[in-house]
Amino acid sequence: MASPRASTPLPELPEKNSGYREVQYWDQRYQGAADSAPYEWFGDFSSFRDLLEPELRPEDRILVLGCGNSALSYELFLGGFPDVTSVDYSSVVVDAMRARYAHVPKLRWETMDVRALGFPSESFNVVLEKGTLDALLTGEQDPWIVSSEGVHTVDQVLSEVSRVLVPGGRFISMTSAAPHFRARHYAQTRYGWSLRHATYGSGFHFHFYLMHKGGELSVAQLALGAQILSPPRPPTPPCFLSDSDHEEFLSAIQL
Ligand SMILES: C[S@@+](CC[C@H](N)C(=O)[O-])C[C@H]1O[C@@H](n2cnc3c(N)ncnc32)[C@H](O)[C@@H]1O
Repeated sequence: MASPRASTPLPELPEKNSGYREVQYWDQRYQGAADSAPYEWFGDFSSFRDLLEPELRPEDRILVLGCGNSALSYELFLGGFPDVTSVDYSSVVVDAMRARYAHVPKLRWETMDVRALGFPSESFNVVLEKGTLDALLTGEQDPWIVSSEGVHTVDQVLSEVSRVLVPGGRFISMTSAAPHFRARHYAQTRYGWSLRHATYGSGFHFHFYLMHKGGELSVAQLALGAQILSPPRPPTPPCFLSDSDHEEFLSAIQL
């Protein structure tokens, strides 16, 4: 799910995909991050700037969730959006970002778990996340049916996002997860927002979800949200092989 930005050596991968949920993995991965090139998951600022900028105002208080080693917060500052607070639960990367951007005291960096944000309610106009919910959902066995634990984890984050957003605030989520997997998490009335979707990137497309606090979900989105724990599976492809073909491996392929 990664897209390295510069020609730096590739970081060590976790032994199992679920390792991406562990702070120990990230702490280890971010050793030396202050002196290494930024690493961008799901594209850098230039790849989604056209979608993001119309949603931002220069005076906005912006919160970046799970900032990692990305240059996004700095690029927002350079782009004319200076009030940026970035959080990550890896104290290693937070210290590294503080050191890398020490020349920009306006940027704030905090070690914090996005499931329990330590900010008062209604303290931000914009909350951004890129790849952080994806990391929290690794280890799920089936993208069509997210476990109740996975649903609960995402709900913890989204409830916190909704709480810290002002009325009229925006939540923007950038991910590789297509709408049939991700939109149902966002399409919940309790967060009090509307939902829009776009794609960005050339070749392989990433997904840009925009939630407006105070907006409403459509009837179709509400129906989607209601299927959060029991989404309909895609239809099983028809099997055209006769029993006598003995090609069971082919009929087992789920397209
Ligand atoms: C896939 S990386 C994305 C990094 C960065 N946002 C980017 O776009 O390149 C996921 C990041 O989320 C952080 N993270 C994962 N779970 C978190 C949690 N519960 N609270 C705070 N940060 C978390 C990780 O430490 C890691 O930096």
